[in-house]
Amino acid sequence: MNTGFKLLLANIFFVFVNTISAQNNRDAAFENRLQSMTLEEKVGQMSQIDLGVLAVGKICEVADPIRLDTAKLRLAFQRYKVGSVLNCGCGFHALSRNRWLGIIDSIQQANSLYSKHEIPVLYGIDAIHGANYTLGSTLFPQQIGQAATWNPELVKAAARITAYETRASGIPWNFSPVLDIGRQPLWSRFFETYGEDVCLAKKMTNACITGYQGNTFGNEQVAACMKHFLGYSYPLSGKDRTPVWIGERELRAYFLPTFQEAIRLKAKTLMINSGELNGIPVHASYPILTTLLREELGFEGVAVTDWEDVYKLHTTHKVAETLRDAVKIAVMAGIDMSMTPNDFQFNELLLDLVKSGEIPESRLDMSVRRILKLKSDLVLEGKTTLPSQADYPLFGSDSFARVAYDAVAESITLLKNEGDVLPLSPGSKVWVMGNASNSLNYLNGAWSQTWLGQDARFNEPGKMTILQALQAGYGKENITEVNPQYVLKNQRKPKLLPGAVVYCLGETPATEIPGNINDLSITISEEDRKALESLKARKVPVVLVLLLGRPRIITDLDKLSRAVVHAYIPGQEGAKPLADLLYGKINPSGRLPFTYPRSSGDIVHYDRKRTEDNDINFGSSGYNPLYDFGHGISYTQFDYRGLNVRPENDTFVIQVLVRNTGNREGKEVVQVYYRDEYAPVTPSQKKLCAFAKVNLKPGQDTVVTFKVPFFDVGDIGADMKPFKASGTIVFRAGQQTVTLNHKP
Ligand code: BGC
Repeated sequence: MNTGFKLLLANIFFVFVNTISAQNNRDAAFENRLQSMTLEEKVGQMSQIDLGVLAVGKICEVADPIRLDTAKLRLAFQRYKVGSVLNCGCGFHALSRNRWLGIIDSIQQANSLYSKHEIPVLYGIDAIHGANYTLGSTLFPQQIGQAATWNPELVKAAARITAYETRASGIPWNFSPVLDIGRQPLWSRFFETYGEDVCLAKKMTNACITGYQGNTFGNEQVAACMKHFLGYSYPLSGKDRTPVWIGERELRAYFLPTFQEAIRLKAKTLMINSGELNGIPVHASYPILTTLLREELGFEGVAVTDWEDVYKLHTTHKVAETLRDAVKIAVMAGIDMSMTPNDFQFNELLLDLVKSGEIPESRLDMSVRRILKLKSDLVLEGKTTLPSQADYPLFGSDSFARVAYDAVAESITLLKNEGDVLPLSPGSKVWVMGNASNSLNYLNGAWSQTWLGQDARFNEPGKMTILQALQAGYGKENITEVNPQYVLKNQRKPKLLPGAVVYCLGETPATEIPGNINDLSITISEEDRKALESLKARKVPVVLVLLLGRPRIITDLDKLSRAVVHAYIPGQEGAKPLADLLYGKINPSGRLPFTYPRSSGDIVHYDRKRTEDNDINFGSSGYNPLYDFGHGISYTQFDYRGLNVRPENDTFVIQVLVRNTGNREGKEVVQVYYRDEYAPVTPSQKKLCAFAKVNLKPGQDTVVTFKVPFFDVGDIGADMKPFKASGTIVFRAGQQTVTLNHKP
């Protein structure tokens, strides 16, 4: 062994021993602290209250501007030793960064003054698509739009900026991302997901967690909170927080992988599903919260409940006869922290349960240890000063807005473009119509300045609506907002008719509302419809722009339109890239992260089983979506050649040549699907196993190579364990297919 190598080994050993001893010291410090804590303090660390509880005014009716109430601070931190606070108050709105810093500072000061134990308060917030509760922050597309970019690098960049701007507001814990799979479009929170596919959602999970938490922990990262564990997104009725039935095999195959990925990446916290899964409220489920989460998946972070969910075991789910029973059930099932959040009954009841011996103190120790570690990781300990505005010079900067622009640009999905109506020709006359054409709220959706994102009073000044962006970029003299009456009145005057009509259709911003989407079909007013019909009859091309967080049934409108553009819920930076895409400055490269159904009663996912292909004539053309999962067109064309798949060391090495055969530069999402012809579990007709986004100049080509582990081409068996596909497997990329006879 040469000396250099010996030195290297010695160094590695030194770092290893140091790391171990630093870890041991840290563990010992937590243990010492735990031993010195009173029972009241431990209970306090396990509780989280809403900011409204500390503010002047009543719950959900706090004074505006918000002010903290000294008596309430004293009650929370002196008497109840509360360890965590969340959000910006029920019924409340975004605050300036300065105001946030002031609030967090006052909370920490009150805590150290009154509680005496010197454990800092942990503040958590829903920064769902940017630091959406801080004025002046950068907002990105909602998660469904981020998924439509099929570009994990952009998702990671957006998460990094969100973390930076959340930290810049003094807040280190973000209740994001939503890792629930979006397979029920009637569910009000579909737009908060990464869509229906496990492979795509897993890649986005990886990007987001890495973006929030970074490689090292410090002042520019936040603790991620994966939510909502487990099975929240698939209510049978579509209504939020109503019964979900998912068999264990399907849970493991579709709903668990994103969480597994986040846990592998050491996501620091997790929020529990508010609803019931197979008849058991998840907050009461030891098998989910302890056996699966801790013992099997090895999650070491903090599991926080969702809003009021401990009490709801008694008040709503009716599995606990009293609130006291509810607290006992939830704590013994495995929660670490209760988002109580509007009173202190949780604290009183938990204290009593431990004092009476019904819950062992060692159970609390387990949770408090995790909470102390989280606080220490977040560099809260020993930090007396909050950042100043100057510590985060890039907050709300143009460079951040540019990333939001790129994220929107790469998310927008061109679904159809008959006769190349798009891009529009600069200088031609364009009419703009539709409910979403001149509104920031439709661009932003929920979790934007307010919870539901509906109140225009709190919109960020200076941000453009679609109409404004079109006019600013392509001439006020060319772009006119019209209403259907105007269209109907002037339809017989050919000289007045424009070169195209842009019709912007949006979905009322909302989230968490049980059953706000009772009908997947989306209707427009009779007058609007008549106007569109008349325009079609006069051969004026209609460009339908969808600002929807899910597939709504648009089949009729699709027929009236020559081009259809899905913009999802792009956020307040969304109008400019949309305008630039309509005019061809941006070549569309978004792809659908969900299957677009043709009719409400026909919700079938692309990775369907063979039986779902059966049609009414006993043929096999039953799968008939309006637009397929992964669909999206470009202003250029791509050609695929030479797909090759070979097994190598437990992976499939997949290669394919992609060429830009059109005359514009553009980005293509190379998608690789497989079908296991025969398997112990009914195989999917088609399943995504790899993808990559490539940029190609006209005439340029590239060979894209993927290495896909065997286990990513397989399923979960009847024994609940993953198995690898074997026998005949068909791989597809573009129009190319390769059939392999594979014996792993
Ligand atoms: C939602 C969570 C959210 C929490 C805090 C709940 O109602 O389900 O997603 O993080 O409120 O705002």
